Amino acid sequence: MTRFSFSLDATDGAARTGVISTPRGDIRTPAFMPVGTAATVKAMMPESVRATGADILLGNTYHLMLRPGAERIAGLGGLHRFMNWDRPILTDSGGFQVMSLAELRKLTEKGVTFRSHIDGSKHELTPERSMEIQKLLGSDIVMCFDECPALPADDARVAESMRLSMRWAERSKQAFGDRPGHALFGIMQGGVTQHLREESAEALKAIGFDGYAVGGLAVGEGQEAMFGVLDYAPGMLPQDKPRYLMGVGKPDDIVGAVKRGIDMMDCVLPSRSGRTGQAWTRRGQVNIKNARHADDPRPLDEHCSCPACRGYSRAYLHHVFRAQEMISGMLLTWHNLHYYQEIMQGMRDAIAEGRFADWEAEFHRQREMGDI
Ligand code: GUN
Ligand code: ZN
Repeated sequence: MTRFSFSLDATDGAARTGVISTPRGDIRTPAFMPVGTAATVKAMMPESVRATGADILLGNTYHLMLRPGAERIAGLGGLHRFMNWDRPILTDSGGFQVMSLAELRKLTEKGVTFRSHIDGSKHELTPERSMEIQKLLGSDIVMCFDECPALPADDARVAESMRLSMRWAERSKQAFGDRPGHALFGIMQGGVTQHLREESAEALKAIGFDGYAVGGLAVGEGQEAMFGVLDYAPGMLPQDKPRYLMGVGKPDDIVGAVKRGIDMMDCVLPSRSGRTGQAWTRRGQVNIKNARHADDPRPLDEHCSCPACRGYSRAYLHHVFRAQEMISGMLLTWHNLHYYQEIMQGMRDAIAEGRFADWEAEFHRQREMGDI
């Protein structure tokens, strides 16, 4: 049986390219993971998500435990079978979503109790229960149960929260146990404070994980502060293990993160903004609801090979968005996910060939030209 492993194939500056091997298939890095929160990447069939170039999806413990329930999914053969995606799935552990979505949250050393944002029912999540749920789902990459304060927060609050997450990381590891072919990733916290990030990295390395996430970013600190942390945080983590930046981001955030040594990312942005009429292209952001597209026979991006750009005009995309037709979200989501995966492939090739700086300069040059 293939075990979980990571091979680093090339580096260019701090940027890296490689392959994560799992029993469910390889993940080419740097990798972008589309978000499939409720056992679906909204508006996309799984085979379409695959066609955009995705090697792995992200699922959410929080949403799936509430609806339809982890035990139910396990009874139906696990999350892969349930949602008809047979490649790798990474699941987030729930703590972060409880803090942003749930009601009447109560945080203790043991874990967190909360009421569902869907029906108000009462639930508890602990490191042990999060590991159990992620096992029931059949997740390939399991995330430690953690907690993350919204920024700005003072150092004392960030330190206290980070140390709690490190104790939970130890409990997560104990509860996860030994599961060949499945990976457990630790999550670094510590806000934008370098010595707290260092303390967190040391705590995680002492426990020992299959991969390491940088958490607690993109929570209101801004890109400059985030890049400030990414200038040192990846270097505090083991060279030979994957590094995952959670919940990031816009195309320029992703490029800046890869440049600084990140191997994996996830974000709802390309799928969510596809449903609100926002497209991302080489030339930046396009708002398809804008009246200027109403008579435009050109595609979103003439150089894009996605179905939305091959078969449809801006005028059509504008019309179906205005008419609230379902195909609007379908086409724009497909385009956005395709564009994100094209960025990832471009970076993987550039790093392998030692021309990442040139690739990045061209990426920024095209964006600065603005939309056609
Ligand atoms: N998603 C975005 N940021 C975070 C984080 O800090 N922790 C977890 N578990 N998920 C996240
Ligand atoms: Zn396209």
